[in-house]
Amino acid sequence: MGKEEDENGCLNEWPEPIVRVQGLSESGISTLPDRYFRRSRSERPEVVEEIPVIDLEAVAGRKEEEEEEEEEDNDSSSLSSGARGEKMSGACREWGFFQVVNHGVDQELMAEMQEAWREFFLLPAEEKQEYANSPATYEGYGSRLGVEKGAKLDWCDYFFLNFLPISLRDSSKWPRLPLPCRPLTEKYGQAMACLGEKLTRMMSLSLGLKEDRLHQAFGGDQGRGSCLRVNFYPKCPQPDLAFGLSPHSDPGGLTILLPDANVVGLQVFHVDKWVNVKPLPNSLIVNIGDQIQVMSNAAYKSVEHRVIVNSIKERVSLAFFYNPGGEVVVKPLDELVTENNPAMYLPMTFNEYRAFIRSKGPQGKSQVEMLKSKS
Ligand code: OGA
Ligand code: NI
Repeated sequence: MGKEEDENGCLNEWPEPIVRVQGLSESGISTLPDRYFRRSRSERPEVVEEIPVIDLEAVAGRKEEEEEEEEEDNDSSSLSSGARGEKMSGACREWGFFQVVNHGVDQELMAEMQEAWREFFLLPAEEKQEYANSPATYEGYGSRLGVEKGAKLDWCDYFFLNFLPISLRDSSKWPRLPLPCRPLTEKYGQAMACLGEKLTRMMSLSLGLKEDRLHQAFGGDQGRGSCLRVNFYPKCPQPDLAFGLSPHSDPGGLTILLPDANVVGLQVFHVDKWVNVKPLPNSLIVNIGDQIQVMSNAAYKSVEHRVIVNSIKERVSLAFFYNPGGEVVVKPLDELVTENNPAMYLPMTFNEYRAFIRSKGPQGKSQVEMLKSKS
């Protein structure tokens, strides 16, 4: 533990010993250790505003009816027309964020999943230590995102696991305890992948593309990727000086977040303010990641967001990242590039992009901006 880089300069170990944030929190300290100081009190205002709400029920309903009537699948445009497509398009362009209701994911599964993972984090430290991760893959139990020695840190522990492609899924690395954790995660991952696909189909239509365009651009059924990060934000002694998660945009395709039903914390940057997200009951929060911003040639925005913490109650959130496959070359889609609207980004595989991000940890939107072609 705590080994420095090897002779090749390759960091397979963290650059310094890992300190569990939960351990710090439980030690009863009354001041925040220096490494977690990340913000000052004089900041841009924080407000509460409702982020766009999209009801998915009608889409599913209409699709089923179509199938029952065995109509030819030649007019998918009916799904893109109308208020919902416009609402999605507006949300993806102006907010980069929306909440979905009537999303079809079983409420009980959502609640059980939250509970199982909360229980995992409440296990004794030694039990969790078995799953300690390394920056080589990030898989397992972790307490930092970047590998830079001496970097400022966020007030968060997490568990990261791969879900798709199946070749990367290794449930033997997932928590053995609590017992429901593995089977629930399997089931939940499937429901999220299904919802992720549904969302990319809706987004394709709302961009004026063929329905499966983004799905194929992600690598299709076999090629697409996905992973889950469960975030645990312990109580913090000086919450206005720390971040649970510093401002960042999500590197992947899109993110489906199951927020904590009892504790708010997510803030989204909108226009010129940090907006506190108060999710509707049973909703899921969806946001555009950097790869959809690139594919859409910046029509859809991967927006900065961050997490604040509090001194009263810990918070658990589950972020499901629905991504292009690692070897898929991501670039602005041909249909969206014209003479007047030239490609804004250089092609890059998602693995290359992710490696770049992982060396730094959360850095606002600097990564996707750096990828911009110079033209
Ligand atoms: C993330 C993220 C938000 C939250 O994991 O990338 O932005 O509310 N999480 O935990
Ligand atoms: Ni995020």
